[in-house]
Amino acid sequence: MIIAVDGPTASGKGTIAKRLADHFGIPHLDTGLLYRAVGRQVELNGGDPDNPDDALAACEFADDLLNDPVLRNEATGGLASRVSIHPEVRKALFERQRAFATQPGGAVLDGRDIGTVIAPDADVKLFITASVEERARRRWLEIKGRGIEAELGDIEANIARRDARDMGRSDAPLKPAPDALTIDTTNFDRDAAFVMVREAVEEALKS
Ligand code: DC
Repeated sequence: MIIAVDGPTASGKGTIAKRLADHFGIPHLDTGLLYRAVGRQVELNGGDPDNPDDALAACEFADDLLNDPVLRNEATGGLASRVSIHPEVRKALFERQRAFATQPGGAVLDGRDIGTVIAPDADVKLFITASVEERARRRWLEIKGRGIEAELGDIEANIARRDARDMGRSDAPLKPAPDALTIDTTNFDRDAAFVMVREAVEEALKS
């Protein structure tokens, strides 16, 4: 069983994907982390994330990098979004994601193009979204919770910029697969959103 979870930044898709994986007892891959590692590796190489050759060279990152907390930073998220527009980078990361998706027993993957490109054959496709204002508020609370000062307005502007880049790129843009279930979590807290998603997935698996 493959469950594809796509959606924009800070929509809560990562938490939902993890909880779905726990619920069904199958492994989970946060594919954004792979793009974040490429973005970070470009920086470590002193390269330019907008240059396709530099970005492709950074796809050779060591797996240890995936555990580096710096990958979670807003700045690394921005670099990830920039390297992810290059078709060369998407191609280089494809096999790893596809192999994870098709492993025996199934998997949950979250990202931007899981239902459209990585696993168009997924059993269930979810598109998790929330308003820009609400996503900015959640990200702001999370950053504040880590003891870091941040301006809500800056975060909202950042998120809007990331959305525009992720949705506007020509290769594998962020969009719901035609057969995806779109779930808007704007008015739901984490637990309520998860219950809603779990019920939708269980219903979809019956048909
Ligand atoms: O989900 P995230 O915020 O960690 O993703 C960081 C960036 O990586 C995102 O802005 C676009 C890119 N990305 C992508 O292009 N395709 C994916 N499947 C996952 C992430």
